[in-house]
Amino acid sequence: MSDARSDSNVNHVTKTNQLEATTTITIAICVLITIVALIISAVAISKPAGSDITVQGKTTSPRQTPQPAVAYSPSTYDASWCQASNRRRIYTVAIGFDIGAYVYSDDSGFQVGFGHDLIDAVCQEAGIDCRIVTEPFTNCMFSEKGQPQRGGIGLMEGWYDACIGYLASRQRRQIFSFSKPFLKPLEVYFYAFPGFNPFNITGKKVGLISGFFTNEACIAGLDQVAGRDVPHANVFHAQTPAELLAMIQNGTVDVGFAAAVDVINVISDTNVRQFPSGPFFCKNYGQTGMMTRKDNDFNSKWNEGFEKLVSSGRFKRLCDEARIKHGHRGEIDCVDA
Ligand SMILES: *[C@@H]1O[C@H](CO)[C@@H](O)[C@H](O)[C@H]1NC(C)=O
Ligand SMILES: *[C@@H]1O[C@H](CO)[C@@H](O)[C@H](O)[C@H]1NC(C)=O
Repeated sequence: MSDARSDSNVNHVTKTNQLEATTTITIAICVLITIVALIISAVAISKPAGSDITVQGKTTSPRQTPQPAVAYSPSTYDASWCQASNRRRIYTVAIGFDIGAYVYSDDSGFQVGFGHDLIDAVCQEAGIDCRIVTEPFTNCMFSEKGQPQRGGIGLMEGWYDACIGYLASRQRRQIFSFSKPFLKPLEVYFYAFPGFNPFNITGKKVGLISGFFTNEACIAGLDQVAGRDVPHANVFHAQTPAELLAMIQNGTVDVGFAAAVDVINVISDTNVRQFPSGPFFCKNYGQTGMMTRKDNDFNSKWNEGFEKLVSSGRFKRLCDEARIKHGHRGEIDCVDA
């Protein structure tokens, strides 16, 4: 027993030494790279101007081959690598705004809601450092008339690691990865002036919100609705729920199609109504979770933290508490846990 323990102590000490050695080597390499980069950039700058070849027009002369001054320009030296390797990784998560109880501005204009509470709790359980970034939805997911949904520029270009609150549809799974879901499937409806018949939308101009899962593919799966294959010419995209409301009100479209949670606060106190009385659900659309690029490791860490939150009973408590804290803004429909 005691032998085993002293062995593990030795191992521990060795590992610590190795760790320190690795850190020292990393720092040494970083310093070396910095010096080399500085020398190269100094050489590039001090090169006589005459030796730089200016290419004008389209010639096929061999002088057009890449210039060292460009290939080794200081900008190709990536300082962030040296800094990042000695620091704890920060994960950034994009969140939208004004989605019921999930995210809204409090009295002082500060963004709060269940989304913020959940990110804090899961990242704490996962032991990762997460920061929240408020972003337009279209930077996570984007759609245009007549085209399948596309990845938004923010997530595609790696401005952040994940976007919160995206439902895993078939189209989206071809672009991004999804975490374990934390919300139940969302209810979807048509939104129009009183008297609208939601069971026949033949010839109607339909308004959608760019990037939202409530798209043409979802409408096409609503078996009870005549005219559900909406021609491209009749599809119009709003950039936000508020813009969709404006398009319904000024007659740009006959009807809007959206998840209740996304528009319910926007249409309250207007003459726009929800149809039909019972909800529709998109077919084969999965549930709502975190969305990342497929080459990002955020979801594996998040799922670990989320599992811990669920098994400890804290997830259920978080949902119950959020319903009290944010319930005045709408429902919070957590998965059963
Ligand atoms: C749906 O509406 C269109 C146009 O108003 C009409 O021609 C068609 O017969 C209707 N279909 C059903 C199934 O009610
Ligand atoms: C209707 O509202 C939308 C969204 O605000 C706007 O882009 C459009 O120009 C408006 N159309 C008319 C006819 O007022």
